[in-house]
Amino acid sequence: MTDLTEFSRSIDGLVAFVTGAASGMGRATAKVFANAGAKVAACDVNAEGLEETIAAIRAAGKEAQAWHLDVSDQGEVATVIEAVAAHYGGIDLLINNAGISRPTPIDAEDYGEKWQQTIAVLLSAHTFTVRAALPYLRKSRSPRIVNIASTEGLGATPGSSPYSAAKHGVIGLTRSLAVELGKEGITVNAICPGPINTGMTEAINDEHKQIYARRRTALRRYGEPEEVAQMTLSLCLPAASFVTGIALPVDGGLTIRRA
Ligand code: NAI
Repeated sequence: MTDLTEFSRSIDGLVAFVTGAASGMGRATAKVFANAGAKVAACDVNAEGLEETIAAIRAAGKEAQAWHLDVSDQGEVATVIEAVAAHYGGIDLLINNAGISRPTPIDAEDYGEKWQQTIAVLLSAHTFTVRAALPYLRKSRSPRIVNIASTEGLGATPGSSPYSAAKHGVIGLTRSLAVELGKEGITVNAICPGPINTGMTEAINDEHKQIYARRRTALRRYGEPEEVAQMTLSLCLPAASFVTGIALPVDGGLTIRRA
């Protein structure tokens, strides 16, 4: 085995493709990765939010570029990934983070529509990005895929079956791809965030957040997007080369708490 060097804990110079980078955890990931020296391709459907992300990164003297992308559009994904690879000379780190939340009971009239939207953005999209990025990941010296799942991929809450099914699917996809791509040195891992203060949870008022967090988490609070982004970074380090196929809870202890 070669000696581990300080560079093994650095993503400096690597190219990171981050979806859902206009808000919440995706924005935090783009910032944390850029701050660690990566060249960040920040992708989202929200152009205004992306601009804010890029401005913050550039104000810190770091490198990022915005790409408008609807991850549920397979053709667009292929085009943007090609453009990013041409711009930065490759892709090393793929972070599938973009997400929507469309809660619905199983007997709602518009259930089918919400099911389709949710599966498209949260699950099918991951296969689009992986398939398009694979030729570039195969050329990388440190190829990493991190899928942002959820504690809803490990358990479930009522009225959220499309979301929970998609997130369970993300964990299954992660494990399957880890096994399939392992022989090529490409690691594939999932992160399962618990309740995090992002755009997705901003409509929940503070009192309800506090009640929920006190009742459900060991740390008695919501997490911050940066706390997830740092764990995503950890899984992307060259030094994380023997970690693959895991579903890592970053949930303040939600999944282990019983009472
Ligand atoms: P957020 O709403 O702050 O950010 C999600 C981003 O995804 C937005 O910028 C949005 O424009 C983008 N997006 C939505 N549809 C898209 C599409 N079709 N193509 C490209 N971009 C699209 O939400 P948050 O919380 O930062 O979500 C990030 C990920 O974390 C999601 O996959 C979500 O399911 C997951 N998650 C969130 C939790 C939370 O408590 N906030 C808990 C567990 C998982």
